[in-house]
Amino acid sequence: MTARPLAPRPPWAGRRVVLGVTAGIAAYKAVQLARDLARLGARVDTVLSSSARRFVGPLSFAGVTGGSVHTRILATEGAALHIRLGTEADLIIVAPATADFIAKAAQGRADGLLTAILLSTRAPVILAPAMNDRMYSHPQTQRNLEHCRDVLGYRLAGPGSGALAVGEGEGPGRMLEPADLADHAGRALGEAEPFLGRTVLVTAGPTREPMDPVRYLGNRSSGRMGFAIAREAWLRGADVTLVTGPSSLPDPVGVRTVRVETASDMLSEVKKSITKADIVVYAAAVADFRPAERRDRKIKKSSGDGRTIELTENPDIALESWAGRRNGVVRVGFALETEELLEGARKKLEEKGFDLVLANDPGEPGAGFDVPTNRVTLLDREGRVEELPLLAKEELAVVVMDRVADRLRSVARGA
Ligand code: CTP
Repeated sequence: MTARPLAPRPPWAGRRVVLGVTAGIAAYKAVQLARDLARLGARVDTVLSSSARRFVGPLSFAGVTGGSVHTRILATEGAALHIRLGTEADLIIVAPATADFIAKAAQGRADGLLTAILLSTRAPVILAPAMNDRMYSHPQTQRNLEHCRDVLGYRLAGPGSGALAVGEGEGPGRMLEPADLADHAGRALGEAEPFLGRTVLVTAGPTREPMDPVRYLGNRSSGRMGFAIAREAWLRGADVTLVTGPSSLPDPVGVRTVRVETASDMLSEVKKSITKADIVVYAAAVADFRPAERRDRKIKKSSGDGRTIELTENPDIALESWAGRRNGVVRVGFALETEELLEGARKKLEEKGFDLVLANDPGEPGAGFDVPTNRVTLLDREGRVEELPLLAKEELAVVVMDRVADRLRSVARGA
């Protein structure tokens, strides 16, 4: 789950989502999901199974979405409700989806409003399983889920692991968090060319270069920019690997996240993934130097040894992963400059073989490290320069991915 601003934006804005809620204890979290989807601009209609009403009431959903809430298949006016909701929807998401509901969905039953909608719709369907871990791991439940995924083409979001309801286990069975489910909905609504099926590799965060078992050299990077880019690429349908130095941010949903400490570790992870990448974004604030020697024991004050630290240069990940790249790869880098911003950025674009560079001065208010916003100037290989306003890092990730999409399209046209 990643922190993100909740304002109407593609791919959610203006899209019709049917949120199905079945009778699990996680139903209370579905209210938050409904609210997130509505705040992202989706038009949400809620369908509660009749037993789900014992966990959470229709008024809660109506209040946070402003949309309709239904429980019964029979409507008194107009076209049959299940046909109307199913055909008008851009997406159906069932959260929580209980073991019983999944069994019914796998069988193609139409004994309630929600199961009937599943038969009438041709929109993507997401199931967010939520149940006791023993019920989840039962072979029959697993078969039902496989059938839903492999035969019916439904997407499965989760479950996650972690504490289940009181007295239950800790194995898989827990419904994903609402923010992650909203992102699953975003991917189902938004995945499209040119990102669909593409592989994206992102570096993020600081690196930590140890001196002894307790001390290290590092920097103030939070990882937020790289995490936002990885999430944005996943929302658009890419297969994403994020290689990050130490960051307190949680793994972005759907993204293969590899956590490392040092620049050398980051380089070896990047080398493993770069041969498959169509797009590489170097957003990490890699420490340029590391202590020449890493002591096995803590350097004692009394030893007088820790006053001078000899440094040695770290590998440049962007340069050293150049050889492993695929033909036609799009490479995006950053240039952090406190003076002569554009000249420095142009030099890095040339020397590191970037197609696009985001230049920023961390001294500017709201820009740089450990803040939620950034102000950058975009430079591309063709000499274009675009000054962007102060943006949330998540908004900046959208602009960067738009520019990457333009490049992928022009590469495809042979331009
Ligand atoms: N970079 C990298 N490996 C390094 C240093 C930088 O991959 N060891 C990448 C960064 O992720 C960024 C770009 O190279 O995309 C430029 O990083 P920056 O810190 O601005 O510049 P440096 O190359 O470190 O050069 P200088 O410190 O001289 O400005």
